[in-house]
Amino acid sequence: MVTSPSMVEYDNVDIAFQFKDGRKVVADTEVAYLLPSDSTEVERLRLNHNLWKLMLGGLFKSPLAESLEKGITVLDVGCGPGFWTRDMALLYPKSQFIGIDMANVFITADLPSNVQFHIVNAAKGLPFENASFDFVFQRFLVMGFPTETYKHSVQEIKRVLKPQGKIEILELVNHYTDPSPAFSKISSWIDQALSARDMDSYIGDKISSFLQEAGFHGIKDINYSVPIGWGGQVGDLYLAIQRLALPAVGVMVSQLASVTNEEYKRTSKEALTVTDQFHSSTRFRLICATK
Ligand SMILES: C[S@@+](CC[C@H](N)C(=O)[O-])C[C@H]1O[C@@H](n2cnc3c(N)ncnc32)[C@H](O)[C@@H]1O
Repeated sequence: MVTSPSMVEYDNVDIAFQFKDGRKVVADTEVAYLLPSDSTEVERLRLNHNLWKLMLGGLFKSPLAESLEKGITVLDVGCGPGFWTRDMALLYPKSQFIGIDMANVFITADLPSNVQFHIVNAAKGLPFENASFDFVFQRFLVMGFPTETYKHSVQEIKRVLKPQGKIEILELVNHYTDPSPAFSKISSWIDQALSARDMDSYIGDKISSFLQEAGFHGIKDINYSVPIGWGGQVGDLYLAIQRLALPAVGVMVSQLASVTNEEYKRTSKEALTVTDQFHSSTRFRLICATK
């Protein structure tokens, strides 16, 4: 059995939260993330985790199943509640898993002993020694890391990976294919909000180049397109996720984009009711590579 990497001492700031429109959000200038950190958001992330198990036909794409069976060390950056971390830990009991997130939304039920969660502001670096992990996973930080922080995160992941260690990043691209007018507007408001925080709607399309610049090799970049409310089980599930995602994103958009709360709510309602007429999809990218 491998042992879990220990954390180095780090400045673990107590991140402040506040309530906006009944949702719990960060109230700390050190954190760019503006989506809520509350139980409704945990439910969205649970459904999203189920969606991606369906999309990938499993939990990851890197060629690691055999090593995970034998026992390796794995880090999940910005793990949220940690559904991925927990499922991986249950599936691979000889491996050790650490999930880090700036918000304490970690699940506590059915946690096996080979998983640990820690509150960490990953924008400040990863509090682990060089070469601590065999595999680092990072999923959906497009609305959390400004561009420079994203690049730095990739470099930090490389630092904490062992030689030949694997990185895997799954990211949403804020771009709808065949959008309804309502989804077009929502996408442009999200873009405005992200730009206001130096974040990039299209960062998913640039991750391969960040990995290349950081010196990773064997980079694989896979495109996914997820239908919203059409095309069967995946589309239905993604529509259910959108019903929770649009209000969550609304908290960020109403602070940082030029749209009123009322207009955003009206447009969201429209977006969710016409999905069978427009056959819109969202783009995602999964990038894996080796140190
Ligand atoms: C969209 S959620 C995705 C969570 C998880 N990766 C998943 O796929 O379910 C983004 C997560 O990133 C976390 N996050 C945002 N900024 C962060 C930061 N600076 N340091 C650590 N976690 C951060 C948020 O708290 C949130 O849990």
